Amino acid sequence: MMIFAAPAWADTPNGQTIFLHGNGNGAMPCAACHGQDGAGNSAIGAPKLAGLPAVAVKSYLAKFANGDGGNATMQYIAQALAPAETDAVANYISSLK
Ligand code: HEC
Repeated sequence: MMIFAAPAWADTPNGQTIFLHGNGNGAMPCAACHGQDGAGNSAIGAPKLAGLPAVAVKSYLAKFANGDGGNATMQYIAQALAPAETDAVANYISSLK
């Protein structure tokens, strides 16, 4: 029997899990503020994310992480996401309609 040691995909973060449940490392679930389907929540000023291209989400998160986004909560969340987690959650958001 063949044993495949540590397949690369085993460590690939799941964007949907991060979106719905957070990354377990400081980044709160995006869905808590932006909605389960990414439709946003105007009552708390969380914009709609559904339909944003992955590249746009990544660019917003990079700005927040740098402190250029002007929002302390999103700065904290963006900094808590590892690069691969940012990619995964951005790809997941781009799949939301
Ligand atoms: C505690 C609430 C909260 C959580 C949790 C949260 N966000 Fe946000 N997010 C906001 C708010 C509020 C804004 C608006 C910030 C502003 O306008 O300065 C925002 C803005 C954004 C934007 C910019 C969108 C735009 O059109 O301007 C992106 C992208 C984003 N969030 C992604 C995420 C992702 C990805 C997660 C999960 C990893 C997440 N957010 C979790 C509250 C939250």
